[in-house]
Amino acid sequence: MEKLKIAGGYPLKGTVRISGAKNSAVALIPATILADSPVTIEGLPDISDVEILKDLLEEIGGTVRLSENDMTVDPSAMISMPLPNGKVKKLRASYYLMGAMLGRFKKAVIGLPGGCHLGPRPIDQHIKGFEALGASITNEQGAIYLRADELRGARIYLDVVSVGATINIMLAAVRAKGRTIIENAAKEPEIIDVATLLTNMGAKIKGAGTDVIRIDGVESLHGCQHTIIPDRIEAGTYMILGAAVGQGVLIDNVIPHHLESLIAKMREMGVQVETGDDQVFIGGAQNLKPVDIKTLVYPGFPTDLQQPFTALLNKASGSSMVTDTIYSARFKHIDELRRMNANIKVEGRSAIINGPVQLQGAKVKASDLRAGAALVIAGLMAEGITEVTGVEHIDRGYSNIVEKLNGLGATIWREALTKEEVEQMKNT
Ligand code: EPU
Repeated sequence: MEKLKIAGGYPLKGTVRISGAKNSAVALIPATILADSPVTIEGLPDISDVEILKDLLEEIGGTVRLSENDMTVDPSAMISMPLPNGKVKKLRASYYLMGAMLGRFKKAVIGLPGGCHLGPRPIDQHIKGFEALGASITNEQGAIYLRADELRGARIYLDVVSVGATINIMLAAVRAKGRTIIENAAKEPEIIDVATLLTNMGAKIKGAGTDVIRIDGVESLHGCQHTIIPDRIEAGTYMILGAAVGQGVLIDNVIPHHLESLIAKMREMGVQVETGDDQVFIGGAQNLKPVDIKTLVYPGFPTDLQQPFTALLNKASGSSMVTDTIYSARFKHIDELRRMNANIKVEGRSAIINGPVQLQGAKVKASDLRAGAALVIAGLMAEGITEVTGVEHIDRGYSNIVEKLNGLGATIWREALTKEEVEQMKNT
């Protein structure tokens, strides 16, 4: 087990290249199950979630080649092997194996997914969708059993706008008989990316990226080649970092349109943000104004950037409020920021940040992926040395973070945990 050590207080400058989108990758890889010949996905991020999904596809009989950032999956020999335990528990997105295996084999047994603890994260809308398509579903000892004689298209209204349910229902419906209509669908760019892959595989999908998606089921899907979209959350994290400690940071391989809500808020704070076709430049930022943000479904301010943005708000002069309407408990980073001298109060689903404060280096713990990103940004802003444990969360979603930050001039490195720290981690 490792920790990150950061010597803070030094300005960052230069160019950082963004990797493929984690939240697309974790759906694109399971989607390959639906084809009957090899599918290649180019530009995958170098993150542990991708490695775990590779292993899971191999467990069910797939032949997977991962070379650098490109993965080729030959799904022809796959079988509907039950996956009640083991690696499925390590990531939230293992729930996409349900939709993909149901679509191809009409049956699946998948352990309840793991992932970051951000408050209750039910999957009732996924289940509702599968049932509407004709599947019977039971939950036995922590695993979901799905079975259908045949899948038939249906009209499904999502009671909650859910990225996962929208994609999962698409995965099951592309090989169902007849037409499926998903109403109140989520509109995130990752949904369009998955629909593009499925369309290249021969699926018939209209409306991805709007709140009504129509899918006409087909008998079979074939292999193809697909290039993943850039990770808007990784890009947003580096943009925030650029405003927090940068003296001119160019973010390369980004779709600026995916980040309009963040760009608007950063400009409101007084940050210089310039956008190009696939680049965003963040100029050195001083005398930042406080702002309020409320997380919303896309194209609103993404919940996944709420935690990193909170770190930046410590630099603004005055009181800012961050409200998370998507998750009820995505504030575990706040106690850690307080250890670093931040002046933040949590009231219900809101955090009130009083700045400016000079953060101080401290020993802190990342309890989830984006909390980890927030603490890395805070560490770079702080005076002195910050030690971040819980690095395995950060490695689930940020490709080569240490190398990318060092490339911008940061002083950050990995160190093995001491015996005492390993014991402490076990006891918390
Ligand atoms: N929800 C339900 N029922 C459901 C599904 C969701 O009540 O059946 C609720 C959730 O509890 C939450 C809200 O609906 O309050 C939105 O959840 P959604 O299903 O959209 O989230 P998700 O698909 O599980 C994805 C990302 C998250 C990101 C959210 C929101 C993946 C693998 N994960 O999760 O990413 O926060 O959408 O945008 O795509 C992250 O990258 O750090 C991360 C947590």
